Amino acid sequence: MHRFPHVPVLALLLSVAVAPAAAQTEMVASPNSRIQVAVTTQGPLTYSVMHDDELLVEASPLGVVLSTGDTLGTDVRLVHAAERSHDETWTQPWGEVTTIRDHHRELHLALAEDERRMDLRVRVFDDGVGFRYEWPAQDGLASFEIMGERTGFRFARDAEAWWIRAYEWNRYEYLYENTRLSQAGSVLHTPFTLAFAEGPFVAVHEAALVDYAAMSLRRSGPLAYQADLAPWSTGVRVYAEAPAQSPWRVLLIGDVPGDLVTNYTVLNLNAPNTLGDVSWVQPGTYVGIWWGMHLGELTWWPGPHLGATTERAKRYIDFAAAHDFDGVLVEGWNVGWDADWLGDGRSFSFTDPVEAFDLEAVAAYARERGTRLVGHHETAGNVPGYEAQMDSAYALMADLGVTSVKTGYVQWGMNFPRTEGPGVAPGDTAREWNYGQYMVNHYRRTLEAAARHQLSLNIHEPIKSTGLRRTYPNLLTTEGARGQEFNSPGGGGNGPGHVPTLVFTRMLAGPMDFTPGIFDIAAADEEHNRVPTTLAGQLALYVVLFSPLHMAADLVENYAPHLDALQFIKDVPVDWADTRVLEGAIGEHVTIARQDRHSDDWYLGAKTNGESRTVAVALDFLEAGRTYTATLYRDADDADWRSNPVAYTIESRTVTADAQLRIPLAPGGGLAVRFVPED
Ligand code: NOJ
Ligand code: CA
Repeated sequence: MHRFPHVPVLALLLSVAVAPAAAQTEMVASPNSRIQVAVTTQGPLTYSVMHDDELLVEASPLGVVLSTGDTLGTDVRLVHAAERSHDETWTQPWGEVTTIRDHHRELHLALAEDERRMDLRVRVFDDGVGFRYEWPAQDGLASFEIMGERTGFRFARDAEAWWIRAYEWNRYEYLYENTRLSQAGSVLHTPFTLAFAEGPFVAVHEAALVDYAAMSLRRSGPLAYQADLAPWSTGVRVYAEAPAQSPWRVLLIGDVPGDLVTNYTVLNLNAPNTLGDVSWVQPGTYVGIWWGMHLGELTWWPGPHLGATTERAKRYIDFAAAHDFDGVLVEGWNVGWDADWLGDGRSFSFTDPVEAFDLEAVAAYARERGTRLVGHHETAGNVPGYEAQMDSAYALMADLGVTSVKTGYVQWGMNFPRTEGPGVAPGDTAREWNYGQYMVNHYRRTLEAAARHQLSLNIHEPIKSTGLRRTYPNLLTTEGARGQEFNSPGGGGNGPGHVPTLVFTRMLAGPMDFTPGIFDIAAADEEHNRVPTTLAGQLALYVVLFSPLHMAADLVENYAPHLDALQFIKDVPVDWADTRVLEGAIGEHVTIARQDRHSDDWYLGAKTNGESRTVAVALDFLEAGRTYTATLYRDADDADWRSNPVAYTIESRTVTADAQLRIPLAPGGGLAVRFVPED
């Protein structure tokens, strides 16, 4: 234990040692003082983090390397330091909670190196730390090229870690690995989740990734990682023009795993809504012509098994209208799909429907029945092709009454043929990483263009979420992890531990379009290629995984034998007033309760990995003194995801806030509960 670390400021503070003469240090603490950040402001710029008086992050480097060969951050001097407090509560237009408190202390350090200025802004919350670089407008630094960041995360002790590797062909779609921090991979994506013995739980991530390259983490020591910025094909990481700023480098910090989930530091570090009135952004649930393609029964491309036919779309619309779904997704509706569609997506039109799909008639049929189409634009990663059509495509969608579009960027790794911009001669092309500055800017342009047509986006193969939904509330949800599609035949399967891992890793970044709700669970018979939950476990996902757009992903005919279980999906909201993580162990189990934003109803979802176990939770989130009818959708006694996945039981109980809920979960199982006040 490093109870008395050799950080000069702490030495001074505790009066236990003589501070080394060299470094001057500025310090800022969280409002409750449990987290303290110290920054050396003379010579090499470094920061360290204390949590409950123990060193969590040892003195770690800060700064950037420029293409001129200069570094900023190796020999700085302090021009000016300012500290301030901030306490503000703001309202989300939609979300996992209605209001969020942004309570932090900020240290702003104006720094100079030679004749150049680079400032550091640090914000310390009771449950997290954020810091970023700022380059003010100045003569000596107009346009500049960042070749890398020196930013380090040198942890003071080993921990248990959950991570996926970066720079792999399938972007973020990997199963999480669970190792010691000292054994974790050489280059990782964030969020990177850590559990230290005796606490705390920590996740490294970033916030407000705007006009910059995404940060991965590259190993730099036994317990240390360094920020690694995704390069352009030119080798440059970031093309910048002062005034400029980096995204926030963020540590989420909590006492229990659930504290990471109900941690709003990333949102607090993003700029407020820039879109003004966003009453046109509509959360909701949808069904769609989708799973049939993943089962291999239907195709995205024209032929005898085309999914997107007028007749099938109308059948899905009838189902949506009968069961109050807000939308119907139809994939494969447009010209350009063939069996090799992810070649490079050159032929996709986002305005021309295929012959078998009467777009205007289907959209009108949906509107007349009180639902609507959900748009689908699979770009196959052809960004120039999409940008050329984006405005007319969104205009068409808006004309048809569509309010949200699912976009997609399936490609084999860094396969984006860019035809202009840095390093590209006329007639030439260059391919870019999905998470470099080029794509970061592209995704933002799609949000801005969509907003002009009052459309919201659900981005598949996205850049990871960094809280931009606060600034652009029409960024409803994204994928960016292994979702249900991997539980299809040939998908390889996610395994039953995936969801209890996702909640404490990928989900810390923001909502996910996981596409739950498969009821025909044994559609594929091999264990490693099928949905690894019970049916009650599928229902639990609507509460456990937050998304303001949730799909009921199965073929609609598969709901007919289980309309009693479908009732939960019809009832469960996607927009919440409050969220509480009642218990959880990363990769093992989790129980979350959420309150509907538009009624006094509460919902609960519990999910276990492959182990059976008993959920035992207090219902003290319910309003004291009120009586509720609880409708429980639980695993039948003999349910098991491998051998008997569909066996479920629905029962009602009368409960109050004083009650305890004790319910067994089957292997791979789950529990979904709706609580409705009786008065
Ligand atoms: C990958 C997406 O994640 C999936 O939902 C979609 O069906 C296919 N791409 C085709 O666009
Ligand atoms: Ca995908």
